[in-house]
Amino acid sequence: MSERNNKPEREQLATRIGFLLISAGCAIGLGNIWRFPFITGKYGGGAFVAVYLAFLLLLGLPILVMEYSIGRAGRLNIAGSMKKLEKPGTKWHVFGYLAILGNVLLMMFYTTVAGWGFAYIYYTITGRFNGLSPDGIDAFFGAFLQNTPAIVFWMTVVVVLGFWICSKGLQAGVERFGKTLMSGLFIILIALVIRSVTLPGAAAGIDFYLRPDFSMLDWEAVYAAMGQAFFTLSIGIGSMAIFGSYIGKEKRLTGESINVVALDTSIALLAGLVIFPAAFAFGVDAGSGPGLIFVTLPNIFNQMAGGQIWGSLFFIFLSFAAMTTAIAVFENIMAFTIDEWGWGRKKAATINSVAIFILSLPCALSFGPLSWIQPFGPGTGILDLEDFIFSNNILPIGALSFVLFCTYKFGWGWDKFMEEANLGEGVKFPGWIRPYVTFVLPLVIIIVLVKGWI
Ligand code: ALA
Repeated sequence: MSERNNKPEREQLATRIGFLLISAGCAIGLGNIWRFPFITGKYGGGAFVAVYLAFLLLLGLPILVMEYSIGRAGRLNIAGSMKKLEKPGTKWHVFGYLAILGNVLLMMFYTTVAGWGFAYIYYTITGRFNGLSPDGIDAFFGAFLQNTPAIVFWMTVVVVLGFWICSKGLQAGVERFGKTLMSGLFIILIALVIRSVTLPGAAAGIDFYLRPDFSMLDWEAVYAAMGQAFFTLSIGIGSMAIFGSYIGKEKRLTGESINVVALDTSIALLAGLVIFPAAFAFGVDAGSGPGLIFVTLPNIFNQMAGGQIWGSLFFIFLSFAAMTTAIAVFENIMAFTIDEWGWGRKKAATINSVAIFILSLPCALSFGPLSWIQPFGPGTGILDLEDFIFSNNILPIGALSFVLFCTYKFGWGWDKFMEEANLGEGVKFPGWIRPYVTFVLPLVIIIVLVKGWI
């Protein structure tokens, strides 16, 4: 089949469930499993969750609908779609290029941290933590970070595996593996939650995690909730738009977005239900920051009956979640080179995998040979710099550009956006929300952006 210009029709995902699961897979990642429980604990548990949910609804959801709409109407990657939909003479697609760069930047540190997850599966299964004291586990993590060959090896595993899956095709690779990984992830998570909440003493952890403490809810917490809403949905870099470009017009996009947000939120909430009850049951500090997953949890598993099995399952769960994000973002990067430069899928996978491997090296080496680079002072590194540029700059700038593009006449425009979002059946994007998304939403995003700099 061919379109008017004889270009082959765009590949499509085989099933709706495939679309929902790989979109959710793009959203569900380290942000849900490490970042969400940790900042929830830090900012007052249930009260923070309530604010976070409000931001997902008020901020995340409309932007997600916009991303999907741009992708589905443009039938290309985010840069190509914006170029196709923009008014002649305007340059909105420059933001599309920035978004693609955002995908690359995310992977420049994500591949390294995802690699830690794979390494910890190996270390847990082979019993490397058995019998280690809490200090010993702490020292192990420190030594591991400085073991450059190991860090680079596990980062390479993530890059090669992810691009290999993408190279197999949209349906045979991304969709098939995405569905399998997501199903595995759900099953393992349920088993982990049941184990954790039934531990003696778990109730104190559940109480700490979910009891609202409004006294801890200051502006910093509100800002953290906003940032988390952006990060967890990966909105602002077009990595969701790409999946809009692979689906038909049967379903309205608001309903689909609600499904994805609900899946993402459930996983985040359940991940907290694994970590906090277990931490309290074994008297381990749950607010330990970056070390939460790689130091605190091995301590917990060490004390737990059958801990080697539960620990392995946890790191498999973490790696599956990180992998589904990596596959989705790799697909986005590949689609750009396929759409814009006419590359074949295999060529795109090969060249992009080499590029991402090289670009991931600064972060991978930043705990060893490059540890002298401390962009924000002692104790910080290249990972912090890349995360700052990505989370505090590219995500909000990208999101702002999508909102303006969809709501203002000089962009794609409100009417065209509404027509696309509301094609098909399901929940409608409400017209009465227009003043909010046109005036208030951009302002909120600008506040997020500026606040990130000060
Ligand atoms: N949305 C991705 C995550 O939560 C980036 O890890």
